[in-house]
Amino acid sequence: MEENKMLKKIVINTELPGPKAREIINMDSKFLATSTKSLPVVACRASDCYIEDVDGNVFLDFSSGISTSNIGYSNSHLISAVEDQMHKMWHFAGTDFYYKIQVDAAEALINVMPGSRDKKVFFTNSGTESNEASIKFAKSFTKRPQFIGFIGGFHGRTMGSLAFTASKATHHEYFYPEMPGVHHIPFADPYRNPFGIDGYEDPENLTGAVVDYLKDYVLDRYVPAESVAGILAEPIQGEGGYIVPPKYFHKRMMELAHEYGMLYIMDEVQTGFGRTGYFFASEYFGIDPDIMSLAKSIASGIPMGASIVKSKYDFEKSGLHSNTFGGNMLACAASIATIDEIKSKKMVENSNKMGFYLNKRLRELQEKYPSIGDVRGLGLMQAIDFVMDAKSKKYNKKLRDNVIESSFKKGLILLGAGESAIRFIPPLIIREEQINDAMEILDNSIKENL
Ligand SMILES: Cc1ncc(COP(=O)(O)O)c(C=O)c1O
Repeated sequence: MEENKMLKKIVINTELPGPKAREIINMDSKFLATSTKSLPVVACRASDCYIEDVDGNVFLDFSSGISTSNIGYSNSHLISAVEDQMHKMWHFAGTDFYYKIQVDAAEALINVMPGSRDKKVFFTNSGTESNEASIKFAKSFTKRPQFIGFIGGFHGRTMGSLAFTASKATHHEYFYPEMPGVHHIPFADPYRNPFGIDGYEDPENLTGAVVDYLKDYVLDRYVPAESVAGILAEPIQGEGGYIVPPKYFHKRMMELAHEYGMLYIMDEVQTGFGRTGYFFASEYFGIDPDIMSLAKSIASGIPMGASIVKSKYDFEKSGLHSNTFGGNMLACAASIATIDEIKSKKMVENSNKMGFYLNKRLRELQEKYPSIGDVRGLGLMQAIDFVMDAKSKKYNKKLRDNVIESSFKKGLILLGAGESAIRFIPPLIIREEQINDAMEILDNSIKENL
């Protein structure tokens, strides 16, 4: 077997995309259905925080395959765990039969969850499926049909999750009717406060305004509280623009949910597994959610997801939910190895430390470039938001897109979020000198595009 060579620095030796890359991109558009491609990176191998393309160019990756490769690329512990399992067996339908590695993976997961250990895991294969399972847990426990979601939220694209997704109208075009009974309320966005009233940027006021909105405008007027199964939220809105709500926002919302007998569901698909400098962002917000949806980095890119419930909310009988691939043996091996690596290599700590450093460097750029209206984030989940001017905070999407494009040409992979933000989500093993390299590229890219 060919060993993966260690990639150590950015190397750009062709115009981008290079000739082999262009060829594959053309074939891709011939054979693959249209989806959401953003940058013309044609990857062929990766290690550490670098990705090599088919033309031999090496990129520094600040996207982590959308917050999935948290432990970095080609982690040797994960490779041997998956390889070992592969030689033994890789599939037996974990929902219908029994095998130990699925139990071990569930236990490992519960052991790193916030709050009580009295929890149960339902394994899925993606984020959207995890939310579908979470929705079913909430409906089947409460026997209630409706839900509350947040404007700006992203929860996936299947018909249940899509009903909650509210970050871009295109996601819904042609697809109505989705799951009925989901009602959206404003999210507590401290930068562009949705109530448009001065003073509402204050965290207490902002949280109170969302609570009042839910009570006075939704529950009192058209959605009877006793018909609502749960509130589904991302701790930090991801696709919606990396919006970090006030620290006590979720605690207050969860208290409100419980006052009315609703469950509080946290979608930690993007924020989980050390991304925010906590194992789960729920810890930062001081809550132990009733249900948590996970995916992305749970098995470092071997497809896997999970919905985890407090045991009392488990399905009351067999047959209410199931699937074929959930708890796949390779995914379980990868998930256990991922959790081991995050713990033993102190990646949560590094996420916290490097997150502070990255935030500081981004703030330095904000001082230099007034077009950066906001710098926000937690741990290694950081973003900058480009605006037309600091007062109006109007989205500067064009500048954002151009900066991403220029950075790519210099060897840095970045992803957008929301209308005008760039997210910075490198693997959690990132080092200071790599952040410095990224910031130098970013600085030059902004300069070039003003
Ligand atoms: C918070 C959140 N939930 C759910 C999803 C959907 O996950 P998947 O694409 O694996 O279905 C995403 C994907 O970006 C996400 O960020």
